[in-house]
Amino acid sequence: MASILVTGGTGLIGKHLCNLLSKKGHKVLILSRNSSNNPNVFKWDIENNYIDENAIKNIDFIIHLAGEGIADKRWTSDRKKLLIKSRVASANLLFKKVKELNPNLKGFISASGIGYYGAITSEEIFDENSASGNDFLSTICVQWEEASLQFNLLNIRTVLLRTGVVLTKKGGALEIIIMPIKFGLGAALGSGKQYMPWIHIDDLCEMYLQAIENTKLKGIYNAVAPEHCTNNTLSKAIAKVLNKPFFLPNIPAFLLKIVLGKLSCILLEGSKVSSKKIEETGFKFQFSNLNDALKNLLNN
Ligand SMILES: NC(=O)c1ccc[n+]([C@@H]2O[C@H](COP(=O)([O-])OP(=O)(O)OC[C@H]3O[C@@H](n4cnc5c(N)ncnc54)[C@H](OP(=O)(O)O)[C@@H]3O)[C@@H](O)[C@H]2O)c1
Repeated sequence: MASILVTGGTGLIGKHLCNLLSKKGHKVLILSRNSSNNPNVFKWDIENNYIDENAIKNIDFIIHLAGEGIADKRWTSDRKKLLIKSRVASANLLFKKVKELNPNLKGFISASGIGYYGAITSEEIFDENSASGNDFLSTICVQWEEASLQFNLLNIRTVLLRTGVVLTKKGGALEIIIMPIKFGLGAALGSGKQYMPWIHIDDLCEMYLQAIENTKLKGIYNAVAPEHCTNNTLSKAIAKVLNKPFFLPNIPAFLLKIVLGKLSCILLEGSKVSSKKIEETGFKFQFSNLNDALKNLLNN
């Protein structure tokens, strides 16, 4: 049994992950911006460089998920700073505290995003050795990863999971995507040809568990399902699983750009991302196929 501190453990991925880790017999502690009566929830304040030291003292692993929601609001310049700071300054603060308190950490595992490769619609298959893109999302991911990889300097095993769109039963991207389709108003976005690397929440949580338990995992892995799908395929597949019509013309890109500004790029562009490296570690996906994942998530 390991003692695992999860930042952002209150979020979409965090909640599922903390449940799985507890079920597997690990002790789970959460670092949150909010105080709680739960003795396993500890407070931090990134702005003021504060972490309750009791959270750090006796832990074996840190999983760093905390970060302001990327797609929650338009990307104003203040928002952009917050999106970066909530991931990078937080990782730096964790590094500083671990260095200071020396808790004998066995591993630091952090989320990153497939946004690292840039929002580009192409047939290229990006793997972990591909270069970073040069848009805002890439900038976040590059800085977030650099901050996380500092843990290597302390000889702490570091694993980064470049995550695709996480599909869950409730909340997250799927809930938003299915809304118009449920009302018979489903339509692909922009060209519809953009790829959307995705992963079922159960597979992602299992990957984090592997990152804890399999000491051979080290470095960067794409956390995406093996099957590539475009925005058009995804929307049609959802309509089919929900038994809904899908006949409307695509929503024009310019409309999404007006409504969402630069944030629209994450919906309008996207490439294929490879899952080969994680599979080569022996990782087996429970949901490698989109239809199976959607049936599991939407059919009850
Ligand atoms: N969901 C996806 O499809 C997806 C895909 C790729 C990458 N990721 C990345 O994976 C991580 C977890 O994703 P998620 O979907 O679980 O996110 P989420 O539901 O938005 O939860 C993130 C957690 O981070 C904390 N947080 C929010 N704003 C913060 C801020 N300004 N400063 C510090 N902490 C803050 C919150 O915890 P407290 O309120 O308790 O502090 C929140 O519960 C994120 O970094 C996200 O970018 C997610």
